[in-house]
Amino acid sequence: MKAVTWQGRRDVRVEDVPDPRIEEPTDAVIRITSTGLCGSDLHLYEVLTPFMTPGDILGHEPMGIVEEVGPGVPDLQAGDRVVVPFQIACGNCWMCLTGLPTQCETTQVTGEGMGAALFGYTRLYGAVPGAQAEYLRVPQAQFGPMKVPEGPPDDRFVYLSDVLPTAWQAVEYAGVPPGGTLAVLGLGPIGDMACRIAKARGAERVFGIDLVPERLARADRDGVETYDLRTFDDEKALVHAIHDETGGRGPDAVIDAVGTEAHGSAAAKLAQTATGLLPRKLSGPLAERFSIDRLGALHMAIDLVRRGGTISLSGVYGGTADPMPMLTLFDKQIQLRMGQANVRRWCDEIMPYLTDEDPLGVDDFATHRLPLAEAPHAYDMFQHKQDGAIKILMQP
Ligand SMILES: NC(=O)c1ccc[n+]([C@@H]2O[C@H](COP(=O)([O-])OP(=O)(O)OC[C@H]3O[C@@H](n4cnc5c(N)ncnc54)[C@H](O)[C@@H]3O)[C@@H](O)[C@H]2O)c1
Ligand SMILES: [Zn+2]
Ligand SMILES: [Zn+2]
Repeated sequence: MKAVTWQGRRDVRVEDVPDPRIEEPTDAVIRITSTGLCGSDLHLYEVLTPFMTPGDILGHEPMGIVEEVGPGVPDLQAGDRVVVPFQIACGNCWMCLTGLPTQCETTQVTGEGMGAALFGYTRLYGAVPGAQAEYLRVPQAQFGPMKVPEGPPDDRFVYLSDVLPTAWQAVEYAGVPPGGTLAVLGLGPIGDMACRIAKARGAERVFGIDLVPERLARADRDGVETYDLRTFDDEKALVHAIHDETGGRGPDAVIDAVGTEAHGSAAAKLAQTATGLLPRKLSGPLAERFSIDRLGALHMAIDLVRRGGTISLSGVYGGTADPMPMLTLFDKQIQLRMGQANVRRWCDEIMPYLTDEDPLGVDDFATHRLPLAEAPHAYDMFQHKQDGAIKILMQP
């Protein structure tokens, strides 16, 4: 089959790889009909390079049709239409039963000291072949895949794999009080969807911050009060402007939907680039011990949120040597909540929003639909935010 493979920093290629097969009784194989390109894939494209191996299959946002199931998957059969969560979890261990499938004790990548395995996401998360491919082997298929009705387009359901539960959890963790205010840093797919969900769930005012015109414009159309980082002298000035709008205090909650590639700190960019460019043998251990993030967005979130407020972090940070403003975090008595999305935990609550009325606008959420064969172009376009690319779906 054809699959999108990682070959090196900013080098992905569509290659022929062996078809996946059922290997365990709890496996399923699905034929992918739509598969998303995510901001998280951009980390692999560039900063998380030391944790990748050439040939790794990328992708973690699939939906499709079940081809084959193992004997341990009673509720699925060939022909079922399913969407598959990006994380692999058993549904039955202590963590899964607590609503934390991100920490699944059956699939945890203990050798790397990490939580539940993920599709297509480095050896830290189990080096599981990913979903930007014609077919996908789905481990723990007795729990992960969700059946969805025939009829509506893939766009209606594909975001249940990642964007919707991630944005939902971001809003849930933000805990905006009734009539409260929320600021969302980053208006990529995750931040944009978090704004929509927050408004649908009754947040009074939502402030959205980014620096890409079409991303700001799209949020603006949805009633978000948008702020273009580029029009302020510095981040302090932007923080000031939003404080002025919120009684001088700051919003009740801030969602960071940016993560480690924030525009800002040049020093960290240099260090990231240096570890990314070292020969593999050196860069793996070095990156693990010394990798740092660009914390620009997180620092801005800390300045922006009101005292006693909540920061909800959905942007991915991967560094191990980051200096944090602990003094300010403590002094402002901020609540900091974070983590990968616990996908299955939220999907039942999200489902009622996926109707023909389409209150979250999922049917038109994708800005680009491309054949899988054009993946290298898709990655490049998404990274450079060209051609109005906000969300890209690929069709094998
Ligand atoms: N927690 C999870 O389970 C989970 C799931 C999916 C994605 N993510 C993470 O969420 C983040 C966003 O994902 P995405 O798909 O929307 O990616 P994206 O890269 O398209 O979006 C990031 C946005 O942040 C903007 N930005 C950059 N620096 C900024 C700054 N200093 N202030 C404000 N905005 C800034 C960029 O212009 C961009 O629009 C990524 O870090 C991704 O890895 C987490
Ligand atoms: Zn994703
Ligand atoms: Zn589990």
